Amino acid sequence: MRDPKRAVSVRAPGRVNLIGDHTDYQDGFCLPLAIDREVVVHASVDDGTGVVTHSPGFATDVADSIVAALRERGYDVAPADVDVQSTVPAGSGLSSSAAFSVAVALALSTLADRPLAGNELALTAQRAEHIAGVPCGVMDQMASVHGRAGHALLLDCRSLDVRPVPLPPDLAIVVVHSGLPRALAGSAYAERRAACEAAARRLGLATLRDASLAQVADDPFARHVVSENARVLRFVDALERRDTGELGALLDASHESLARDFQVSTPELDVLCEALRAEGAIGARLTGAGFGGCVVALAPTADAPSIAAQAADRYRAATHREPNAFVVAASDGASILEH
Ligand code: GLA
Repeated sequence: MRDPKRAVSVRAPGRVNLIGDHTDYQDGFCLPLAIDREVVVHASVDDGTGVVTHSPGFATDVADSIVAALRERGYDVAPADVDVQSTVPAGSGLSSSAAFSVAVALALSTLADRPLAGNELALTAQRAEHIAGVPCGVMDQMASVHGRAGHALLLDCRSLDVRPVPLPPDLAIVVVHSGLPRALAGSAYAERRAACEAAARRLGLATLRDASLAQVADDPFARHVVSENARVLRFVDALERRDTGELGALLDASHESLARDFQVSTPELDVLCEALRAEGAIGARLTGAGFGGCVVALAPTADAPSIAAQAADRYRAATHREPNAFVVAASDGASILEH
C-alpha cells in the first residue's frame, strides 16, 4: 500500500550547452543552461520489494544505478513506486537522462528524509550514469541542478564552482534537432575521452585544464579542449559586454573546432549550422556530445521563430532529414514540487 504521507513530487530540467563541449571531463569550462523542458517524478514509499519505475522512454537499469549511487552515499532506499513524465525529447542531446537521474535521486533522497541538493545531487546523478556504464562528465547534471531562469551557468568543472551569467533579453536561444540519431555517440565519446586522457598523460598533467595552446599545437583532440576552454571565458566576457559580433564568431569557431579538430560533427550538423547562419542567426554550433542530436544558435529575439523555421526548411531540402526547431528559455534547476 502507498503511504500518502511518504510521497514526493519533484522536477528536474534538461539542458542545452551554449559553448564549451568536450571540456567537462578534462576539468575545463562550459556554459550550459537549464531549459524549459523537464522531467517530473512522483514517488511514494510502498510495501513492495524494491524501487519500481514507470518511465516511458527511460531505461529502468538507470533507475537501479541511481539506487546503487544513493546506497554508496549511505542512503537506506525504501521500496517505492516512481512515476516519471518528461517533456525533454529523449535521445536528442538535451540531457533527458541527466534530468531523469537528478529527478529520481532528488525524489528518493527526499523520501529518505535527507534530500540531496547542489553539487552532491549532481555528483550522485553523475555517479548513477557511471554505474550504468555511461562515462559522462558532470556538465549535464550540474546544469539540471543549478539552472537559473534567465541565466546561463559558467561551470568550472575542476572546482565545481557555478557562476550564473545573465542572458541578454534581445538574444534568443534556438535549438534545432537534426533528426539524426546519435548512433555513434557512446563509443566515440569514450574514445575521445581516452584520447584526451592520453594527451594529458604525455604532458605529465592530470587533465588538459592546465595545458597551454603551444603544448598541444600538434594534437587536434587536445587542441580542441584547450582552445574551447579559452572560448568559453571569452564568450562570458562578450556576454557581459553585449558584444554580439564576438558571441557569434565564438559560436562558429567552437563548431569549427568540434568538427575539424575534435571530429564529432556530421555533414548534417554542418549543413544545419550553415542554414541557421544563412537565415540570420548570429552564430551556430553543434551542442553536446555530437554525432547527431542538436545544434544551438543565438538569434535576435524578434526574428528567432522565423529564422528557426526558415533554417529548418533549408536543412530539410538539403538533407531530406526531418528537423525539429524550437526556442528555449533558461529555467530554474531541479526542485521539490510537493512533499
Ligand atoms: C555529453 C556528456 C557531457 C559532456 C558533453 C560534451 O552531453 O554527458 O558530460 O561531456 O557530452 O560536452
